[in-house]
Amino acid sequence: MILKEYLDKNKKIVETQLESLIEGQAAIPVIYEAMKYSLLAGGKRLRPILAMMACELFDGDIENVLPFACSIEMIHTYSLIHDDLPAMDNDDYRRGKLTNHKVFGEGYAILAGDALLNKAFEIIHDTLIKKPSLEYIKAAAYLSKASGVHGMIGGQCIDLYYENKQIDLEVLNSMHDKKTGAMIKAPLVVGSLIAGGSEEDVLRLERYGQLIGLAFQISDDILDVEGSIEKLGKKTGSDINNNKATFVSCYGLEKSKQMAHTIIEEAQSLIEIYGTKGLLLKELSNYLIERDV
Ligand code: IPE
Ligand code: IPE
Ligand code: MG
Ligand code: MG
Ligand code: MG
Repeated sequence: MILKEYLDKNKKIVETQLESLIEGQAAIPVIYEAMKYSLLAGGKRLRPILAMMACELFDGDIENVLPFACSIEMIHTYSLIHDDLPAMDNDDYRRGKLTNHKVFGEGYAILAGDALLNKAFEIIHDTLIKKPSLEYIKAAAYLSKASGVHGMIGGQCIDLYYENKQIDLEVLNSMHDKKTGAMIKAPLVVGSLIAGGSEEDVLRLERYGQLIGLAFQISDDILDVEGSIEKLGKKTGSDINNNKATFVSCYGLEKSKQMAHTIIEEAQSLIEIYGTKGLLLKELSNYLIERDV
């Protein structure tokens, strides 16, 4: 199957599932409105799709990975709502719409982010109750760490700390590995675990995720300079405005592009072992650095 068809088909599956998972009522209804506003605003749904691809690579059943895939997208969406807050990147647009705090105010935006994070772990725990296998528990544990202080949150802390400061390549790599890489590795690891992949396979997919996650954030940094708001759905120039340490600010556009290509080639060589079964993952890695959305 060609990549575009796969992405379109699975994006629909994920979005239908997200819509049903996020249904609910609260004493103060605005919290659900705010959660749905960002969660159902589109986006590439890359992370859930990665979980599905990894699961299929090892002949797993998509139905089994879907609750995890949707939970990962909820955690990702919460990270975006908080990333856009005035106290962080102070951005006005996301996924083609005003940012959450611009519509609901900072208080509800913070709470909507928190609520999406909790909802994600509620779904995961409900899944574990139904199927308390060791592999599922390992997947849940991996995701808890990936989204926490040694993963995405840790990376966001480095990002904040290095505003207006010089950064060296080692710290820059580690920042990208955590703030973005962790939540790209997680779906690949989770998908592999749920499908019953071997320990070696899980580790290989984790390394593949680390590499494509790094290249993905380099391309995000490049798009912040070269992209367009119409396609990206978010304003460009955010990094320069906030004096962020990025690959582009350290190495310039051309060198950053070269680095992203080299990293993707390394990622692709890792998964060659899967032959034609790994072709979709290979195509996806090309898309990650050629994209304009
Ligand atoms: C944006 O992620 C934030 C980063 C980690 C670079 P995406 O580019 O995947 O955003 P959506 O989910 O498609 O909106
Ligand atoms: C965000 O990185 C990473 C997250 C954990 C959300 P960026 O700040 O570069 O993401 P964008 O460019 O706002 O999407
Ligand atoms: Mg940021
Ligand atoms: Mg940002
Ligand atoms: Mg960015």
